[in-house]
Amino acid sequence: MVLEVRNLNVYIKASHILRNVSIEMGENEVISLIGRNGAGKTTLLRSIMGFAKPESGSITFEGRDVTRCSPHETALAGIGYAPEESDIFADLTTLENIEIATWTRKTGRNEEERIKLAYSVFPTLERYKTRRGTQISGGERKMLSIARALAMDPRILLLDESFEGLSPAIIPQIAESIHEIARMGRPILLAESNIYHVPDFVDKIYVIERGEIIFSGKSEELLNDKAVLKIVAGAA
Ligand SMILES: Nc1ncnc2c1ncn2[C@@H]1O[C@H](COP(=O)(O)OP(=O)(O)OP(=O)(O)O)[C@@H](O)[C@H]1O
Ligand SMILES: [Mg+2]
Repeated sequence: MVLEVRNLNVYIKASHILRNVSIEMGENEVISLIGRNGAGKTTLLRSIMGFAKPESGSITFEGRDVTRCSPHETALAGIGYAPEESDIFADLTTLENIEIATWTRKTGRNEEERIKLAYSVFPTLERYKTRRGTQISGGERKMLSIARALAMDPRILLLDESFEGLSPAIIPQIAESIHEIARMGRPILLAESNIYHVPDFVDKIYVIERGEIIFSGKSEELLNDKAVLKIVAGAA
């Protein structure tokens, strides 16, 4: 396993937010974490990154215990993260936003190669490379947020609601870019609240509800599980 979360319990103040959460991400896997608003998706991603401190349980990344690591340490270890609110620098250009990300983690790829890689995955960003964060659309900001995470040359990527608030026309385009990143050999964890946004190339799905994993399996299995489907899709 590349990433293994075992029986994780996370509290925010006095509230028990994540309850015995376990997930596994294998080599070359794209997994999706589906859950309604407030289910605990962002909290899980933030816990993996080290922003939230678990009460108990463990997080293992490439065989190393990262449960108590800081966000800086997990990023250096190779966990890339594109948060829900694409936290790009509005005053910087598209290119500068990507450049900055290349400085954090040293790997075999230099700055130029990483920028080229980001542009090859998101050609739109190359066209708008001199625009500032305030001069690109919401969809382009989502792309830039993923491109920045990719520019760190991470081993894996955690993407929080990459399709949220986007027009149906742009969603397949971003999904295809994510697929391309996965095909380059970087496992991806996609958090999604809208089950209809989950791309069909996803290998495994986890459903989280009130801080608990209530389903794990293939998408076909989820489609046959009416009780779980009703929770995440509101389907009868
Ligand atoms: N800083 C905080 N203080 C108190 N409660 C919080 C805080 N952050 C999150 N929570 C609570 O933790 C629970 C899980 O929130 P989380 O943001 O992880 O859900 P989510 O699945 O990402 O939802 P969404 O789809 O709306 O992004 C919610 O009940 C939320 O109210
Ligand atoms: Mg969230």
